[in-house]
Amino acid sequence: SIRSIDAMEILDSRGNPTVRVFVELEGGVRVAASVPSGASTGENEAVELRDGDPKRYGGKGVQKAVANVRNSIAPVLLGMDSAKQAEIDRLMIELDGTPTKAKLGANAILGVSMAVARAAAQASGLPLYAYLGGSGAVRVPVPMMNVLNGGKHADNSVDFQEFMIAPIGAPCFAEALRYGSETFHALKGILKKIGLATSVGDEGGFAPNLRSNEEACEVILEAIQTAGYTPGKDVALAIDPAASSFAENGAYNLRKSGQGVKTSAEMVALWKAWADTYPIILLEDGLDENDWSGFAALTRELGERIQIMGDDIYVTNASFVARGIREKASNSVLIKLNQIGTVTETMETVQLCRKAGWTTLMSHRSGETEDSFLADFAVAMDGGQIKSGSVCRSERLCKYNRFLEIERELGGAAKFGR
Ligand code: PGA
Ligand code: ZN
Repeated sequence: SIRSIDAMEILDSRGNPTVRVFVELEGGVRVAASVPSGASTGENEAVELRDGDPKRYGGKGVQKAVANVRNSIAPVLLGMDSAKQAEIDRLMIELDGTPTKAKLGANAILGVSMAVARAAAQASGLPLYAYLGGSGAVRVPVPMMNVLNGGKHADNSVDFQEFMIAPIGAPCFAEALRYGSETFHALKGILKKIGLATSVGDEGGFAPNLRSNEEACEVILEAIQTAGYTPGKDVALAIDPAASSFAENGAYNLRKSGQGVKTSAEMVALWKAWADTYPIILLEDGLDENDWSGFAALTRELGERIQIMGDDIYVTNASFVARGIREKASNSVLIKLNQIGTVTETMETVQLCRKAGWTTLMSHRSGETEDSFLADFAVAMDGGQIKSGSVCRSERLCKYNRFLEIERELGGAAKFGR
């Protein structure tokens, strides 16, 4: 049973405060878990409680969330069996009492939820992925590596946030990661040769000042070939433009590249042209989070060919996903633990997607920590796809490196792929 729960303020990969929670069990198990933080957040995400005190961290301190773990959550959960994840999460949801976890903070609640899962796994003697996913959790996902950053994640001329490479032709995770790393380094060489910056954005991808959004695809395809791989066969593309971040008054302003203002229908046409031109297997947030009819049109246009995935539109919330299923707004859902705020609710949303025959992709946030919880969680959920940023920066690599460990540990039982 749970002997103690404590929390502290730490810093994330952007240097902003976030929450780390410690859980200790009778019998000596002691674990920690750290909460990530997004930048291009959806409007309906669970609330990240910040202090708002301008004298500390520009108002971004999380001392209130830390205090809520200690003073509100801990007293309710002490003595409980850590294996009762669903009950523990439900108690925290009730204690908070708001639909968006605004009172205690989703950062406080999720930190406890993750740490409880990790403690229970350790107490049971199982790795976290096997504890949460059962003995069938043997599939290591395809990594979608964000090698070129734009949008809100980089100060450059690219409107679209994430250009990811997906090594779909690799035989196992370790090889997929190698394909990704080699392509990443080839891309660096190409950018250098044409005189562009090779400094990186928030998720470790390059952030060059390109002449157009299309040029991002062109240089990545060149990098795939330079690294010795065949675009579309060995390594495909996945795009997350994070369209909510450039949506304005019902239209889309491609301001950073200077490519003009587009209507929703024009954006659908743009994505159709991209899917015809480039080997894209997945398009996430191709339209604004409030553009439900646009999403449905996009799915009608491209849903048979590629994964049309919703991130900001669903915010990992089962009620929004249920609407998406009713309205055929996509065929795939991005899953982020801190958008909804508990391990149990996240698992429920994944189940809902699976029932509808939709794919899922487990995701990090642009502000991350050295916690690799996401890797174990992705194997447990068996969705076959993950994104944890580029192939550099240790807050990204700690997840990828954890997959290497899991694949090694599973040995001959390991599966790989979507
Ligand atoms: P965020 O971006 O973590 O800054 O919200 C990630 C994404 O949009 O998928
Ligand atoms: Zn996204």
